[in-house]
Amino acid sequence: MATPHIAAAPGDFAKTVLMPGDPLRAKMIAERYFDDARQVTDVRNMLGFTGTYKGTPISAMGSGMGVPSIQIYASELFDSYGVERIMRVGSCGAIQPDLPIRTLIIANGAGTDSNVNRVRASGHDYGATADFALLRAAVEAAEAASIKAVVGRIFTSDYFYHPNDDENEKLARAGFLAVEMEAAALYGVAIERKKAALTLATVSDQLITGEAMTVQERQDTLDQMIRVALDAAATFE
Ligand code: HPA
Repeated sequence: MATPHIAAAPGDFAKTVLMPGDPLRAKMIAERYFDDARQVTDVRNMLGFTGTYKGTPISAMGSGMGVPSIQIYASELFDSYGVERIMRVGSCGAIQPDLPIRTLIIANGAGTDSNVNRVRASGHDYGATADFALLRAAVEAAEAASIKAVVGRIFTSDYFYHPNDDENEKLARAGFLAVEMEAAALYGVAIERKKAALTLATVSDQLITGEAMTVQERQDTLDQMIRVALDAAATFE
């Protein structure tokens, strides 16, 4: 049955969903990498697609930007469409100087300035972590493809334009590798449902040096990240 934000039929989604922020990127992933891709939802233009990869059923759907948006879509996919695992495939801004643009980060955990996980934990620190089996599958897929990946904690911010100038330095001192805007919420939604989630994020902006990716670099690194996510997904039924 359709949910408020997804107009798909039961069985339209595979058990594994790749979630880029941009719905047109979900379309590109389906067209370029899936066999037998078909569109399964278009509510608010948040496009979703299902097909197969190396014979394994797989879906891709946009998450939109930020905590509330991914929280809505991930909740509905898990609760109403039989989805078991969601892999966010996104970009991030690195706040450690030794992480150049193009670096693939696999987020084993995510802190946040959002209140959602604190609410989940009755006001306490939540400890939002990735699913270990997904994390291991992604690390192994990267190793098998000789793609260097860095595993560590990232920070999910409600701000793209933060009001405090020194925020990134403080977060860097706290040991976070990079900032993005969705991972911690995705992890919270998955953990409270005993489902699996992981975030792969390519460094698109080096926030210490100001280095940013060209259009071609964005495409090349996206390809690497999608391959890692798909090869990891193909190890699950
Ligand atoms: N901030 C938040 N999210 C991002 C950034 C950033 O600088 N770059 C890519 N995603």
